[in-house]
Amino acid sequence: MAPVWPWLSAFLAALPVVLAGHGDPIAQKYIVEFVDSTTSSASFLTTLKDLGIPATLNHDLSFALFHGGSFTLLDDNQNERAIVKQISSWPVVKKVSPVRELHQPRSEVSTVAHGAAVRRSVTSHGIRRRDPTGHEGNDYPHIMVGVDKLRQEGYLGTGIRVAVVDTGVDYKHPALGGCFGKGCLVEFGFNFLENTTDPWEGRDGHGTHVSGLIAAQPNPYNFTGVAPNVTLGHYKVIGKHVVNTGTDIVAAAFMKAYEDKADIISASFGTYKGWSDEPWGQLVQKLAEAGLPSFIAAGNDGSYGLFLSSNGVDNSAGIGIGSVNNLYSPLLLTGASYSTRNTTKAFGWQLAGTSDFKNGTYALYPSSLNASVVGDSCEPWTGNHPNLTDKIVLIRYGGCRGSQQQANAVKAGAKNILFYNNEPGTYELPVSNPALTGLGMVSAQTGEKWVKLAASGANVTLHMISEKYAKTIFINETNPQSGGQISEFTQWGPSNEILPVTAVSGVGGSILSTWPVPVGSYAVESGTSMATPFVAGCIALLMEARGKGKVSPAEIKSLLSTTANPNVFHDGVTASPFLGSVAQQGGGLIDAYKLVHTATKFNVSTISFNDTQHIVPAYIQINNTGSSPRVYTVGHVGAATVYTLPENSSIPQKNKLGDFVDRTTNGASLKFSSSSVLVAAGGSAVVKVTATPPKGLISHRIPVYSGYITFNGTSSNDSFSVPYLGVATAMRNVTILDTKEGSMYLTDSATNERVQANQQFVLPNENAPINQANTSYPIFQTKLSMGTDLLLIGVKAANSSTIFPVAAPKTALPRTVKGLTDLKATSFTGQLANGSYVPAGNYSLVVRALKIFGNRANPRDYDTVKTVNFGITYAPAPAN
Ligand SMILES: *[C@@H]1O[C@H](CO)[C@@H](O)[C@H](O)[C@H]1NC(C)=O
Ligand SMILES: *[C@@H]1O[C@H](CO)[C@@H](O)[C@H](O)[C@H]1NC(C)=O
Ligand SMILES: *[C@@H]1O[C@H](CO)[C@@H](O)[C@H](O)[C@H]1NC(C)=O
Ligand SMILES: *[C@@H]1O[C@H](CO)[C@@H](O)[C@H](O)[C@H]1NC(C)=O
Ligand SMILES: *[C@@H]1O[C@H](CO)[C@@H](O)[C@H](O)[C@H]1NC(C)=O
Ligand SMILES: *[C@@H]1O[C@H](CO)[C@@H](O)[C@H](O)[C@H]1NC(C)=O
Ligand SMILES: *[C@@H]1O[C@H](CO)[C@@H](O)[C@H](O)[C@H]1NC(C)=O
Ligand SMILES: *[C@@H]1O[C@H](CO)[C@@H](O)[C@H](O)[C@H]1NC(C)=O
Ligand SMILES: *[C@@H]1O[C@H](CO)[C@@H](O)[C@H](O)[C@H]1NC(C)=O
Ligand SMILES: *[C@@H]1O[C@H](CO)[C@@H](O)[C@H](O)[C@H]1NC(C)=O
Repeated sequence: MAPVWPWLSAFLAALPVVLAGHGDPIAQKYIVEFVDSTTSSASFLTTLKDLGIPATLNHDLSFALFHGGSFTLLDDNQNERAIVKQISSWPVVKKVSPVRELHQPRSEVSTVAHGAAVRRSVTSHGIRRRDPTGHEGNDYPHIMVGVDKLRQEGYLGTGIRVAVVDTGVDYKHPALGGCFGKGCLVEFGFNFLENTTDPWEGRDGHGTHVSGLIAAQPNPYNFTGVAPNVTLGHYKVIGKHVVNTGTDIVAAAFMKAYEDKADIISASFGTYKGWSDEPWGQLVQKLAEAGLPSFIAAGNDGSYGLFLSSNGVDNSAGIGIGSVNNLYSPLLLTGASYSTRNTTKAFGWQLAGTSDFKNGTYALYPSSLNASVVGDSCEPWTGNHPNLTDKIVLIRYGGCRGSQQQANAVKAGAKNILFYNNEPGTYELPVSNPALTGLGMVSAQTGEKWVKLAASGANVTLHMISEKYAKTIFINETNPQSGGQISEFTQWGPSNEILPVTAVSGVGGSILSTWPVPVGSYAVESGTSMATPFVAGCIALLMEARGKGKVSPAEIKSLLSTTANPNVFHDGVTASPFLGSVAQQGGGLIDAYKLVHTATKFNVSTISFNDTQHIVPAYIQINNTGSSPRVYTVGHVGAATVYTLPENSSIPQKNKLGDFVDRTTNGASLKFSSSSVLVAAGGSAVVKVTATPPKGLISHRIPVYSGYITFNGTSSNDSFSVPYLGVATAMRNVTILDTKEGSMYLTDSATNERVQANQQFVLPNENAPINQANTSYPIFQTKLSMGTDLLLIGVKAANSSTIFPVAAPKTALPRTVKGLTDLKATSFTGQLANGSYVPAGNYSLVVRALKIFGNRANPRDYDTVKTVNFGITYAPAPAN
């Protein structure tokens, strides 16, 4: 008999409140939106108190575009839900949404630190006076997108106010103006973490790095920000040492930036979401309609595969930014020197943790004389080798775990090891063998040079200085492996609703910028966090060139994506002879010069052809704002079609360096209403595009196809491409809960062991305090193969088909990302969502997830999983 869900309609009625309950709400914190400005946070707080609802005000959110406040409702969980329901029904209240926690940007960046040297040594400043129009020696990222040409034309961002929302900024940094307030480079802002007007930071670094990318002044490292003459604002909302930064603070910062007359917002943080009803995304939409564009990092979790999107960009207004690697790998390393034959030269190395080298001269001993060996020192050393005590052993990284490479060398007697990298850049090795004194890494180019010298019979001697005393040296290497290519860490969309989330890519891999003076002054970092302020800076140049308010946020998004240059598919090691997916790179690498100067406008940014059940034609309108007619040939270049799922699993396929998602060049076929369009001066034309998804693909693996519709004029300056994507399957058929994945199981909270059928649990009496530590509770672990907009958790008696809810429904959930460490756990205490307890007996837990684009009211649009039966009894009530 089919299970009955008598409560389904009951909670559907309550959904307006629950709907806002996204993935990871902060307990007891809510944003209450008032219908208008006649209600103030203070008066609302008084009302709550008068009604006996204990509450505190976290943040007053009264702004021109939003009236409300963020409140903590101090009560136990049960009453909290009732209170929220009650408050939501008041006529002065428009909406009650939980405050949700946000990711800290540092962890976001450190997960992607391939090839990123982060070296923080204090450097003394001799600020050189220079004409800021001149681009500097280390401004390659500018040259990659034509910023150098705009700077030569005199555009510097003068008069444009750019608000950065981040960890704070070291405005005392000489390259960031040295002061805060009127007349300073950083002129406005707020510290939402400490409720002060001072957004200074001295240790996180992230906010100082992104600020420098927009507006760094001339400095000893010879780089500048994209738009060094802008006025910067900074809103400090997040920090490495801060927990519980919530969407209420971010919302407040975005709205304050609007009131402080910012022209552009740049934000480099977020968390997984992928549903367009998220309040942050809706605020971004509102600000865009009011003329303020928001640039938001797409995220750095490219390794987790498709269908991961950050909130803030999962609706159509946010401008999500992906990353392309710098052509060069700038490195800030610890300085040392080496001698060979009769010459001595400088080199740089990066320390691993605290395994510092002692001052001294060491002979170098390469464990292999083959500079392209894979698996160097992965096996125990055999054969003769000299006494290694006073030498530095050189090992090529990769082929097995670094700890294994170290252990084998240590067994052979090594006391000091330098690895050389097998990819561009260097990084801090995470594990150090305790038997080692010194451990570090040099770049691939340095290591290969030494191995070749040794192979030719030369002796190489290293003169090491302990990291504590050494000078920082700047190295600028070419990056033949992935320079100029899409950064492998760039996060892949689309959103669960098939919205393209990355609009375009900026330069974000291996980027030199400012860092707080107390912790080093300059650093190289990688991430979409870096690409985002880079693009925001380019838009400051656009606004200066075209005039403030002359280009709307939607037009900016469209200009960015239609003038960008799509890149080829790249797996971090090898380029393919076809274009990379729009789901990853959006329109491609921006072309700042072209977007500022073009006279052609499109009404779209990226087209979504949605899934096979919702495919509709697109209408592209082309406007010619120039003074002569234009003719465009309409064409189409397909990009890689990528499979979301591997062959035998419902969990999206991961990407590894050199081993990316399965792809095919079998793409969509497109039909245009005309193959050529004439657009009169000052006129417009429309082209209708009908897409047929690729045939012959394995549809249950969720193939995402994409490509570029080309409009070729008479020159490359007058040629454009409109990116599109679609999914060659019906999302409604996609598995959300998969019993085969081995993660839908019941565990015992005391032992963490899997529960076998009919295991008995003795739960505390309902009048006893909940004591997780000493009691076994059944815990159901749920893994979401893909995101769901509704997750229902219920309990069913073994002898009945009625299911009762044990928790409030969860809505707008992203898919599981980090495998078994990222399951949604539900522990069952015997209590139902309505507060009552089930009688002793035999039960199973039942979880249902709504399919993507499924109908909430249709039971067939849910995936359902059920645990084995377990028995519960209650311990006697404690004696008082
Ligand atoms: C923040 O500071 C202002 C003025 O210093 C004060 O009026 C306000 O109550 C403070 N807000 C919070 C949430 O502490
Ligand atoms: C910066 O430029 C100066 C002058 O051209 C040069 O001497 C110096 O080495 C450069 N520094 C870096 C880090 O590139
Ligand atoms: C930079 O901005 C200042 C003040 O906004 C302005 O006076 C100056 O002319 C600008 N510099 C250039 C080179 O445009
Ligand atoms: C260094 O050695 C090379 C040959 O190995 C020789 O040609 C060169 O003159 C030497 N230079 C010095 C400064 O001794
Ligand atoms: C190591 O060398 C540096 C630079 O020559 C010097 O300043 C420092 O005192 C030395 N440290 C030790 C422990 O000898
Ligand atoms: C290696 O050299 C060190 C110091 O020079 C010495 O103490 C040690 O005994 C030597 N080990 C072997 C196996 O000869
Ligand atoms: C390298 O060093 C070893 C040991 O110090 C020495 O015997 C040998 O002659 C040197 N080789 C060269 C090419 O200098
Ligand atoms: C960086 O390297 C490139 C290529 O080797 C060179 O052209 C450029 O001058 C270097 N820049 C600096 C600042 O050293
Ligand atoms: C795709 O279709 C679904 C169902 O109509 C809709 O909810 C969703 O917004 C559409 N996605 C896009 C990007 O238009
Ligand atoms: C393009 O031109 C049409 C009229 O020809 C106008 O309605 C539309 O707003 C224009 N679009 C843009 C983006 O300027």
